[in-house]
Amino acid sequence: MKILSVASAMPQKRVRNEELAAFLDTSDEWIRTRTGIEERRLLSGDERLESLAHQAAQTALSRAKLRPDELDYILCANVISDYITPGLGAVVQGLLGASCPCFDLNAACAGFIYALQAAQGLLKSGAKTILILCAEMNSRLCDWTDRRSCVLFGDGAAATVVASGGEDFLFQMTAQSNPAVLYAKNAPGNSPFHNPWPAEYLTMNGQEVYKFAVGAACSGIRALLEFSGLSTKSIRYFLLHQANLRIIESVREKLGLAPSLFPTNIQRYGNTSSVSIPLLLDELFQGGKLKPGDQLILSAFGAGLQTGNCLLSLA
Ligand code: UT7
Repeated sequence: MKILSVASAMPQKRVRNEELAAFLDTSDEWIRTRTGIEERRLLSGDERLESLAHQAAQTALSRAKLRPDELDYILCANVISDYITPGLGAVVQGLLGASCPCFDLNAACAGFIYALQAAQGLLKSGAKTILILCAEMNSRLCDWTDRRSCVLFGDGAAATVVASGGEDFLFQMTAQSNPAVLYAKNAPGNSPFHNPWPAEYLTMNGQEVYKFAVGAACSGIRALLEFSGLSTKSIRYFLLHQANLRIIESVREKLGLAPSLFPTNIQRYGNTSSVSIPLLLDELFQGGKLKPGDQLILSAFGAGLQTGNCLLSLA
């Protein structure tokens, strides 16, 4: 598999920590020192997630010099969109004017890595070109009266075009069911036959998830290095899911590596779930910081608890 292009499209509205402190019992100082976040982008007014995803997809296709009708598949990593059904990928397929099959997958913050692995399988079964969309409206999941969660998240979309050719990507995936530590529950509906749970906004045991994330990222990265026989010196960048700067710092310290190997953008976007790693990739490509032959390790963790780790070589 090879990556042909990456693009992102972020909401217009920039919300700084101080703006949250105006209606929540929080402060810029707390958010910045505990998480590294300075601001996030949030959907506002009539802005739609499907439009952001469409815009990211169009840019990625144009960077890859491909037309929508040349796509063999669209995979969309998404936790919540305006639709329960159809999946967001099917909505964006129509906006693009593509005619290929598509499906959504929900692996929370690890969604991009799961989509990459699924794409590699589809390429091996005959597909030639695949669009991976990651699009998240975390602002819809959060309780905006709960300072423990809403300050952490942001919205956005990213699109990645992958194609057959290049070297196999190597994956290390895990799932360890534990919905209690990080969940949100759907609206109950009105079936006269069923007693559903009430809807609940995103609820997280931050410290449990923090400990899990540090341990899982370290072991996922070590497993990829061991399996590939590569040393950390061969890796151009380690791109970690942007959930908390302290998590990234802790993983980096445990691996004994330099800060420059761990690019971050959580300061400007908060936790954008499945979008965070392709958003980083887009920034690195656009900043001229990546070249063919560079080897990258991607590592994501989140609700599930699911993790995805990937070692890839840029074609
Ligand atoms: O992408 C999904 C994966 N998610 C993650 O990886 C998140 C992992 N967890 C974390 O990043 C951190 O645990 C948090 C950022 C969520 C919380 O940081 P923490 O250092 O673990 O803080 P804490 O939960 O231990 O809370 C410390 C204090 C508490 O007050 P008391 O009980 O000590 O008086 C909280 O009530 O900070 C308080 N607090 C806040 N204060 C001001 C919690 N949220 C806030 C806030 N502003 N926004």
